[in-house]
Amino acid sequence: MAFDYIDGGAEREWTLRENCRAFEDVLFRPRSAVATKTCDLKATVLGTSIDVPFILAPVGSSRMFYPRGEEVAAEAAGDAGTIYTLSTLSGCRMEDVQQATTGTAWYQLYLVGGRDVALGAIARAKAAGFKALVVTIDTPVAGMRERDSRNGVKQLLARNLSSVPHLGQMLARPGWLYHFFNDGGLMNFPNIVIDDEPMGYADVGAALEQSMTSWDDFAWIREAWGGPIVAKGVHTADDARRAVAEGAAAIVVSNHGARQLDGVSPTVRVLPEVVQAVRGQTEILLDGGIRRGSDIVKALCMGARAVLIGRAYAYGLAAGGGAGVSRAIEILKADVVRTMKLLGCGSIQDLDGSYVEVPPEWLSRLTR
Ligand code: FNR
Repeated sequence: MAFDYIDGGAEREWTLRENCRAFEDVLFRPRSAVATKTCDLKATVLGTSIDVPFILAPVGSSRMFYPRGEEVAAEAAGDAGTIYTLSTLSGCRMEDVQQATTGTAWYQLYLVGGRDVALGAIARAKAAGFKALVVTIDTPVAGMRERDSRNGVKQLLARNLSSVPHLGQMLARPGWLYHFFNDGGLMNFPNIVIDDEPMGYADVGAALEQSMTSWDDFAWIREAWGGPIVAKGVHTADDARRAVAEGAAAIVVSNHGARQLDGVSPTVRVLPEVVQAVRGQTEILLDGGIRRGSDIVKALCMGARAVLIGRAYAYGLAAGGGAGVSRAIEILKADVVRTMKLLGCGSIQDLDGSYVEVPPEWLSRLTR
């Protein structure tokens, strides 16, 4: 069930498959005989220099995959010279996560629990040293992830074990079971504090629905935070323009890793329209479907400043903790370097649209 929670997407999982597959529609146009000996992978995102052009996306409930999951993932990100984004739905205290990393961390905000609860979290994130606030805008309700329903993930997280449909799955993994409960068994969300108590797991679906984020919330969030805001979950040129108008210093073209509305375009397909709409007024990031370094290079050629990876590191975390995350980062980094050399390009700053061929129909929607 932990694997399905990471791996699964909403409903038919069409967008889940397309997020990955659509990268195959973007073709490379390499320059041969360039003899690129070194490769500069440094990018700058919201003024922070990162050593690889990818950032760890917010992934909730990481403590279900590995003990102190968010802390060990943040530590691995810092060691690799990149940014870790901590989800509101984390099982670790945000102060402990910031402490665990030598690198930069961002805090992802859901308004779960309402405005006062969010203001409390914003104040804590500021005091703890988080450098940007990532406001996720595509989660007015929880998506229908059918694999999770089948596996009884909600019941597990609420420790209502008698009704977990596949208790057998857990008993077949005694090592995981031991570590999961030894680590506290995910009883609550320590960063969502309501009436001085961390919110319990059982309440999360209802709480998301009661506190939908709207553009109107950006004004008070901006004022309370006072630092850079990233709008995560932009699917269209219109929303990209709106995010710019609401003062987002960066946007993430994202469909939540296909875990929310199934049937939306794969993110790489909407990148051209967003790049054109934004016209350099905000930094553009993208996530969704990135499984190889070549996917990262394609997104950068098409105008993303950097990308976020979700499952690509979550699989590593579940398989091997912090070492697994480090290994996932290493694999992607080696992939990017190899791809760059094969392309004949020595710096990611030099990547542009001339290195790729994008399906003309992705661009034709720009003329509407
Ligand atoms: C997510 N994602 C997510 N996003 C967010 O804003 N808050 C969250 O709590 C979570 N939780 C979460 C859990 C799991 C298990 C996954 C896989 C994803 C979405 C995540 O930040 C990102 O947008 C996607 O994961 C990107 O797609 P890929 O890289 O997984 O294909």
